[in-house]
Amino acid sequence: MTNVNDSSIQYNPSFVGKVARLFLPFLESVLPLSLYKLVYDALYVNYNRTLHGAYYVKYIISQLFGSQNSKIKSDLTWRLLPYSMGGRKALENAFDVTHEIESNCIPGAIVECGVAEGGTAAMMALASAQLGTETRQKWFFDSYEGLPEPTAEDYKNGKTGDFIRPLPEGSCLGTIEQVSKLMYETLHLSKKEVTLVKGWFQDTVPYEKNNVGKVALLRLDGDWYESTKIPLENFYDQIPTGGCIIIDDYATCYGSRKAVDEFRETRAITSPLQEDGRGGVWFKKI
Ligand SMILES: C[S@@+](CC[C@H](N)C(=O)[O-])C[C@H]1O[C@@H](n2cnc3c(N)ncnc32)[C@H](O)[C@@H]1O
Repeated sequence: MTNVNDSSIQYNPSFVGKVARLFLPFLESVLPLSLYKLVYDALYVNYNRTLHGAYYVKYIISQLFGSQNSKIKSDLTWRLLPYSMGGRKALENAFDVTHEIESNCIPGAIVECGVAEGGTAAMMALASAQLGTETRQKWFFDSYEGLPEPTAEDYKNGKTGDFIRPLPEGSCLGTIEQVSKLMYETLHLSKKEVTLVKGWFQDTVPYEKNNVGKVALLRLDGDWYESTKIPLENFYDQIPTGGCIIIDDYATCYGSRKAVDEFRETRAITSPLQEDGRGGVWFKKI
């Protein structure tokens, strides 16, 4: 058994998210899915712009009064917010966990399965470059065609999770062209260090796992049961002691949580799940 009560970690949306959760379900119940998705997408763009603007205050305060680390963290968060679906807390958590592996000199690559437009992947790559002493390989796996359909394992009472955004097949899309542009042109990361692997995890992860080798940090952000289970099962044994695993969707997507709980139970993993403050978790391999 895991040492964390299944119900103790819950989705914790921002204030605006909490307000949206009051009226979006009404819209969802009266509008056809395609129209609801259009309305949702329009609101989401403005929501993200507002959050980006609001973060500017934190960014300035941190640049003026923060420690060296918080200056780097807020600078990277500010730059990468436009490319992130998880927002500030997901980015800051990706920074903190990268700091954890760098300060403990854990050997191995940085791997993300579920990249979308590349925000958290870029955060780990840039944080590692700034905090680490050695260059790591970065492997970023995605269909680059958006989400697949959920499977039966993802559903509980007819729902796939505790979220309000619609997640039909093809959503959360970041194309390989978009992410290549971000990584190689905008951020000037090296193609020798950053590999984008396009395709379904079911095909790409088992095929590439030997090429990836040791994994210091595994970030799972594929939303669904299979999309969490496959990389976890394939990469876990390649993570050395002290390596870290982030599961972005633990409290938001039922299937992701199920895959993690089952895996931890089967392997008798008792390393505590630590929260990112919005529903994601991470744990250290001990
Ligand atoms: C929520 S998004 C990732 C968000 C991203 N980490 C960020 O920082 O904004 C989920 C991503 O997982 C990918 N994905 C989910 N299941 C997959 C699978 N089985 N194979 C390949 N890609 C998958 C989708 O294409 C999508 O880009």
